[in-house]
Amino acid sequence: MKNIVLIGFMGTGKTAVGRRLASRLGRKFIDTDAEIERVTGKTIPQIFAQDGELRFRSEERLVIQKLSRQEGMVIATGGGAVLNPENMADLKRNGITICLTAEPEIIYQRVRGKKHRPLLNKKGDLLGQIKELLDRRKPFYQAADYTVDTSYKTPEKVVDEIIAYLTAGNLKNGWEPDSNL
Ligand code: S3P
Repeated sequence: MKNIVLIGFMGTGKTAVGRRLASRLGRKFIDTDAEIERVTGKTIPQIFAQDGELRFRSEERLVIQKLSRQEGMVIATGGGAVLNPENMADLKRNGITICLTAEPEIIYQRVRGKKHRPLLNKKGDLLGQIKELLDRRKPFYQAADYTVDTSYKTPEKVVDEIIAYLTAGNLKNGWEPDSNL
């Protein structure tokens, strides 16, 4: 059974949606950032501060390599995971990729004041930084099989839309309906 892989920018709801989607489908949920923290014994901000972003990306690469050899899971990735084409190729090989998006102003509301995202903890214009990073990453996010805008939706509504897509797209995307749907 293929994995369902959530990709998308920080603050688009990957973890919240992924957790609910997994529980609706009776699947195991795994969050790549949480897995990186588990294997390194450090928090994401500690890795960035002590070892640098490059080291974080190589830990992320290893975790994705390992997870994409498994099946039947819901996987939430960190917002930058898709920048490495090898990650995207691995995730797509036995996964259906769903991109969550949100308007920059909504992302701003969701992430501001939170301290656990080193890339958004720089001084200055946070909304401007979000817009710029979003622009740069857009082509990578567009490679997903399906996209859901989460701006004005509850996580439950987003899960409903993903399940509707998976069910309707059945034949095209290689999805085998979960027994409890
Ligand atoms: C990152 C997103 C974060 C985390 C790290 C880098 C990014 O994950 O992996 O801080 O490059 O966009 P979330 O998207 O879950 O916040």
